[in-house]
Amino acid sequence: MRKQLEEIQKSALETIRSANLAADLESLRVKYLGKKGALTAVLKQMGKLSAEERPVIGQLANAVREELTEAIARQSKLLEQAAMEAKLAAEVVDVTIPGTPVTVGHRHPMSLVLEEAEDIFIGMGFQIVEGPEVELADYNFTRLNTPEGHPARDWQDTFYLTEDGSVLLRTQTSPVQVHVMEQQKPPIRIVSPGRVYRKDEVDATHSPMFHQIEGLVVDKGITMADLKGTLEVFVQRLYGAGTKIRFRPHHFPFTEPSCEVDVQCFECQGAGCRVCKGEGWIELLGAGMVHPKVLEGCGIDTDLYSGFAFGIGVERMTMRRFSISDLRLIFENDMRFLSQF
Ligand code: PHE
Repeated sequence: MRKQLEEIQKSALETIRSANLAADLESLRVKYLGKKGALTAVLKQMGKLSAEERPVIGQLANAVREELTEAIARQSKLLEQAAMEAKLAAEVVDVTIPGTPVTVGHRHPMSLVLEEAEDIFIGMGFQIVEGPEVELADYNFTRLNTPEGHPARDWQDTFYLTEDGSVLLRTQTSPVQVHVMEQQKPPIRIVSPGRVYRKDEVDATHSPMFHQIEGLVVDKGITMADLKGTLEVFVQRLYGAGTKIRFRPHHFPFTEPSCEVDVQCFECQGAGCRVCKGEGWIELLGAGMVHPKVLEGCGIDTDLYSGFAFGIGVERMTMRRFSISDLRLIFENDMRFLSQF
């Protein structure tokens, strides 16, 4: 029996140590130590032994049981560790592998300048309002003192949407003036940015779609000095304190007197070059005192109130701000150009 026990011990230890799965270990435990196991089978024969042999074999059997129990526990622990190590190795993150670059977009230069401009006007107490791009000829022209027969109303200049010419793509943001004066009572102080459309051929300074910012101030005692002061502060805040602008007399049907405002050429600083067509100045906006006919048409008492208005070309403003010499670059969406801003 001693021999039997020693054989069980030897073969059991060997198989336990080579077990690779937790499930195998469990069946080994049953095979050797279970109720119907090998060890129990041996112990069942104890009755055949002599009184002297019995305690000796009993001790040996217990020692074998303990040894096998321990061996199973040890092997089970080893298997657990190995499984954990394998898991860690499989899940390892190599922080030295170069990442996949994520291309993050950014604002278009036009949007950047538009936001700057809006901030400056908000800082001066203006409200931002929006107007429709599809407009009635009545608002775009007639109510802006631009009657039938005016050259701006020619089908060669304007995109009409109806045969009778009553609906069009607005040619300027000025109709917003009328919308605002219909809805608000003075004091009015608004700017309105947006797209406008004209039948222009594309070149370095023209596009059939471009952007304007309309400005309108109506209150008691507003004069041309308020217009000049407002625009001077705006231009200096946008382009820097030293920026030179000039006011030229001009004509718009809906302002009287009217002017155009030029900013010194960014390319040649006034010397004259290709960008400013040799003039040294670049036209930036049209402006003037709101024509009494326009005010009265919106029910505003011209004995009490006066106002000024202006319309800034946003593309020109952007070109001046970033020294861009061709308008087409703004709309081509070439990443080599856009990524510079
Ligand atoms: N709407 C004019 C234009 O498009 C600009 C302007 C706006 C002029 C407001 C005077 C007052 O040229």
